[in-house]
Amino acid sequence: MPVPVPPQSEQFDSCCIPKYDLSHVFFEGVARPARTSGRTRPVAKKSSPSTSFHKAKDVHAPQESVAEAVPDPFLVWLLGRFGLDASAYRPAALARRLPSCLRQLRVTTACEAKAALELRPELLGQALNSVLIGVTEFFRDRPVFDYLRKNLLPELLSSRHGLRVLSAGCSDGQELYSIAMLLEELGALEESELLGMDCRADAIDRARAGIFHAREAAGLDAFPSPPARSGITQALRDRCRWQVGDLLSDIPGGGWDIILCRNVAIYLNEPHVVLLWERLTSALGHDGALVVGKAEKLPPSLTLVRVAANVYRKTGE
Ligand SMILES: C[S@@+](CC[C@H](N)C(=O)[O-])C[C@H]1O[C@@H](n2cnc3c(N)ncnc32)[C@H](O)[C@@H]1O
Repeated sequence: MPVPVPPQSEQFDSCCIPKYDLSHVFFEGVARPARTSGRTRPVAKKSSPSTSFHKAKDVHAPQESVAEAVPDPFLVWLLGRFGLDASAYRPAALARRLPSCLRQLRVTTACEAKAALELRPELLGQALNSVLIGVTEFFRDRPVFDYLRKNLLPELLSSRHGLRVLSAGCSDGQELYSIAMLLEELGALEESELLGMDCRADAIDRARAGIFHAREAAGLDAFPSPPARSGITQALRDRCRWQVGDLLSDIPGGGWDIILCRNVAIYLNEPHVVLLWERLTSALGHDGALVVGKAEKLPPSLTLVRVAANVYRKTGE
């Protein structure tokens, strides 16, 4: 499966290489595949989409014009094909991804895109991938993982043998595997239950396979002679379960010790953001922790206290 090329603004930053040297502990090399010509971005056709859209570069920009106040009908249709409610997302955040979707399908208008997908429904997954951004990486936002490693995990494990961890909106699985690595380091992996959930089946397939390019596999320094691709060790794969699902309609299970829901809410509109945080809070165990993305702030109405940057603990039960 081709590795998604992150948008420029979220591409791999070699300054953020994790200091964890995990290569010998957590990864086992797999055969180097036949040399390929390397990944290239699809060449942007000079196209004039049917509606005017921003370039797909700043997904976090808060300004949304009146023209973008409602989701594009094609995107409503596309997300609807996966049982997803497009009205839950910020229309501008979705609209910025439309050009990428059109390029992917090699068409120039939303009408053509719909026709192409009706003709070839096997392309629907790719189209969804280009609209819902799956950018992720191992140990993304390092200070958060440092806090989990040094503080939260040892503290939670002082009263339990293993932890129940949910990665909600897990993309290709790097987030959940990062937690699994820390739990293994703490000797608590065997007794832990880890679940990753995402609405994109392609992402879940990739997470389950656990094969990543060496550059993605945490810490370039950890791979002095990197194989082209590396596989997550069987021990980690055995502990991680994966599920395709819509977070906005169903949070799996309850009583979670840790829920990571990072860089998902930024794409949602306000009422759905609040609803999502409320549901995730309910799904936490009595002193569970909710870990959010760098740009995400929680409403004060929740029964959570902030214990570190981007980490909240449940109170009042
Ligand atoms: C930017 S990625 C974040 C991945 C990871 N949490 C991280 O921070 O590195 C956002 C993910 O949320 C997923 N997503 C968006 N809407 C969702 C929904 N309604 N239910 C489940 N997953 C969703 C997308 O498919 C995408 O993989």
